Amino acid sequence: MFSLTQRRLFSVLFRGSVTKTFKNDHAFKSCPHLRKISTSCKRNTVMPAWVIDKYGNNEVLRLNNNTMFPVINYPNEVIIKVQASSINPIDVNMRNGYGSASLNMTRDPLNIKSSGNEFPLILGRDVSGVVMECGLSVQYFKPGDHVWAAIPPWKQGTLAEFVVASGNEISLKPKCLSDTEAASLPYVSLTAWAALVNSCGLNKDNCPGKRVLVIGASGGVGTAAIQLLKAWGAHVTAVCSEDALSLMMNLGADDVVDYKAGNLKEQLKSRQLFDVILDNIGGPTEKLALQFLKPWSGASFVTLVTPFLYNNDRLGIADGMMRTGITLGSKVMKHLSKGIHYRWAFFTASGPSLDEIKDLVEAGKIRPVINKVFSFSDVPKAFQKMEEGHARGKTVIQVSESS
Ligand SMILES: NC(=O)c1ccc[n+]([C@@H]2O[C@H](COP(=O)([O-])OP(=O)(O)OC[C@H]3O[C@@H](n4cnc5c(N)ncnc54)[C@H](OP(=O)(O)O)[C@@H]3O)[C@@H](O)[C@H]2O)c1
Repeated sequence: MFSLTQRRLFSVLFRGSVTKTFKNDHAFKSCPHLRKISTSCKRNTVMPAWVIDKYGNNEVLRLNNNTMFPVINYPNEVIIKVQASSINPIDVNMRNGYGSASLNMTRDPLNIKSSGNEFPLILGRDVSGVVMECGLSVQYFKPGDHVWAAIPPWKQGTLAEFVVASGNEISLKPKCLSDTEAASLPYVSLTAWAALVNSCGLNKDNCPGKRVLVIGASGGVGTAAIQLLKAWGAHVTAVCSEDALSLMMNLGADDVVDYKAGNLKEQLKSRQLFDVILDNIGGPTEKLALQFLKPWSGASFVTLVTPFLYNNDRLGIADGMMRTGITLGSKVMKHLSKGIHYRWAFFTASGPSLDEIKDLVEAGKIRPVINKVFSFSDVPKAFQKMEEGHARGKTVIQVSESS
């Protein structure tokens, strides 16, 4: 029998064929058809990837053409050849060290290689690409399938030639989208899904007639949320700056509020109250918006801007979790006493949810909103753009020439 270390070495050399040896080592020894994955590097145990070796500003981003090729460690994993990726605010924040206390606790020890820490760390959450190799228990996908996914932040990311994902995180890519288009949607649409579906219980049956306010509507999550809500028949009011008004209308928003035009409170006062508010901005916006929900009618306020990871970074996991629990508990109770459900939402990787989003894309109900596409060599410029703010949809990275 091979030891785990030997199996992983084989999997590097023979590109995942060794996954079969997890079940039957003898089969591996006698198998004459060990399939190799070809990479763009001459030494095919390595690949190009944008990595960071420490946290910091854009200067810590480094293109490493000798990044270790990812291996399948678990039978439910697949290796994907990345055709396109995208940048989200989480990538800029993670580059700066945000969330490292919590994420390092969740990282798979098998992925914390000889360095003994999270570095070199590959950022990037979105992928559109092709399955190259499947673990033994992967049922619904096979090599050659064109898939899209958003990879959780505690795993190595997609700003690389190859990435490993779990079978339950991936979904078949909508055929009508190019790779660059497809890579713009998974992370933001799954975040919108987590907030609207998982946290607020919205779906196609109960959305018609519901009034929903989306704050921070012109960015990645906002543009996905508007389209999801409109696909399900909700009445959507979008809060954005003036130059995004026409984008909002094109996406189907019923009403648009320009937060830069003056008193946002007065502008919202002139509208009917809302059933659901999705807040992508946080801070003072949260306080202001909460008063515009219909009380005692099951109305929900959901925010994506929470102190959860920040508290753990600042106070350590135990104290951070306690602080977070107290903050959330007191907010939930305070608003419940006023007849409002107060919630936090977090991106959740989910192949099955992406399957549903794919159906909406193929039905023409959700389309990519792309701000700018950067080449793989220009990843630092893409980070810079994200950091400058004022996103109008997504910043996408073309990783492979054929995307
Ligand atoms: N909890 C989670 O798991 C999770 C997951 C994903 C994202 N997030 C968070 O959710 C937020 C939104 O993410 P994103 O990907 O949509 O970010 P994004 O693409 O950067 O978009 C943010 C948008 O908000 C607009 N904006 C800024 N200030 C505003 C204000 N006061 N009122 C209305 N709009 C405003 C920006 O444009 P202008 O400045 O030009 O108006 C921009 O279009 C980020 O803070 C992100 O960190 C959390």
